[in-house]
Amino acid sequence: MMISVCFVCLGNICRSPMAELIFTEMVKERGLASRFNISSFGTDDCEVGNPIYGAALRELKEHGITGAHRAQQLSLRDVINNDYILVMDTANLNDVLRLTGGRFCEKIHRLCSFTDRPRDVSDPWYTRNFEKAYEDIYEGCLCFLNKLLSDKRAALGGTRL
Ligand code: 4NP
Repeated sequence: MMISVCFVCLGNICRSPMAELIFTEMVKERGLASRFNISSFGTDDCEVGNPIYGAALRELKEHGITGAHRAQQLSLRDVINNDYILVMDTANLNDVLRLTGGRFCEKIHRLCSFTDRPRDVSDPWYTRNFEKAYEDIYEGCLCFLNKLLSDKRAALGGTRL
């Protein structure tokens, strides 16, 4: 069974493409790459077509992660087509719920709501702290994946953590 996960932020040039690449690496390391369809989107169209922001790319590289992405705007179709819509912060959550008219809320979550300290991902666009954003995103991805694996172990064919 394929699990579709999309990460969502405002511009789709910093946080959500970082999350896409971090989560892709995480599932690859566990031999689960073929089980997942992973993507990312922005709620806004302001950066559509633009590559990952330089400082975000550098932060990823420091952690051994490389990759490329072009910003794309989230549509209702994308919400329908994904099993999990993981947003970075409360503003993103409100924007996505506005897009869906409040529907599909059961599959829309803040990424760091899966941690034992539920919070927004620190926004590096304003803090300029890309390391902090990386740490928040990494922790959120790890906690999400662990929860998913314990919930879906049967569907994933008994794969262990
Ligand atoms: P992102 O970062 O949502 O993490 O991709 C931002 C990108 C662009 C803007 C804000 C945040 N902006 O205001 O243009």
